[in-house]
Amino acid sequence: MKEATLTRALDPLDFIRANMHLAPVPSLPGIQLYTAHPGSGLRRLAEQDEGSEFQPPYWAYPWPGGAVLARYLLDRPGTVAGRRVLDLGAGSGIVAIAAAKAGAGAVTAAEIDRNAIAALTLNTLANGVTVAVVAQDLTAGPPPAVDLVAVGDLFYERTLAERVTAFLDRCLAAGIEVLIGDPGRAYLPRPRLRTLAKYPVPDVGDIKNAPMKSSAVFSLKRDA
Ligand SMILES: C[S@@+](CC[C@H](N)C(=O)[O-])C[C@H]1O[C@@H](n2cnc3c(N)ncnc32)[C@H](O)[C@@H]1O
Repeated sequence: MKEATLTRALDPLDFIRANMHLAPVPSLPGIQLYTAHPGSGLRRLAEQDEGSEFQPPYWAYPWPGGAVLARYLLDRPGTVAGRRVLDLGAGSGIVAIAAAKAGAGAVTAAEIDRNAIAALTLNTLANGVTVAVVAQDLTAGPPPAVDLVAVGDLFYERTLAERVTAFLDRCLAAGIEVLIGDPGRAYLPRPRLRTLAKYPVPDVGDIKNAPMKSSAVFSLKRDA
């Protein structure tokens, strides 16, 4: 019998609870996330889905785009108060959690990575907020029934960025506001952005005490 068939599949919820530490986000101490540490062994979880493409554990970190967007929503709760908010590509759920804490009427987090879905479910529980989780690629479909789409750090890969931008265009055409948090990734639709705020935050993978770079919150304008 092959070794793989003897190995019991890891349950992402159990794995995260057992191997990650719940800790405040350094730039947002009011939000706690299950956080990776050197002994977490996240590859074991990311590699276990035989036959499917390896998914890097993006959900295990607050990305700078998400961190600044969360900061912005907490600093300006009027942006989301009473409104229906979608966090697209939620990862750890940092933006969704901030939106809920800032008083959004309803928050939905969309993710396609099943480990991210486990992480953001645990993270929302740990922060005492209610977030509906959609395990689906919404970018292929029509605009959702929300007032605001919040996008934290999704412009790091060309085809993904093109799909996301086309989806956001459909949202804008339907009257939905779009906010983007981003450190200036390669495929950001720069000419169509209006800068709302800038904050210094560390990037994922930066060594400890590296100088912080500026990331920004933008609103997306309709294509001229
Ligand atoms: C760089 S991480 C950013 C996570 C979070 N927004 C943040 O700022 O910390 C990008 C996340 O988007 C998710 N993702 C990629 N394509 C997606 C799609 N089409 N729909 C939903 N989530 C997607 C990935 O699984 C990943 O967790």
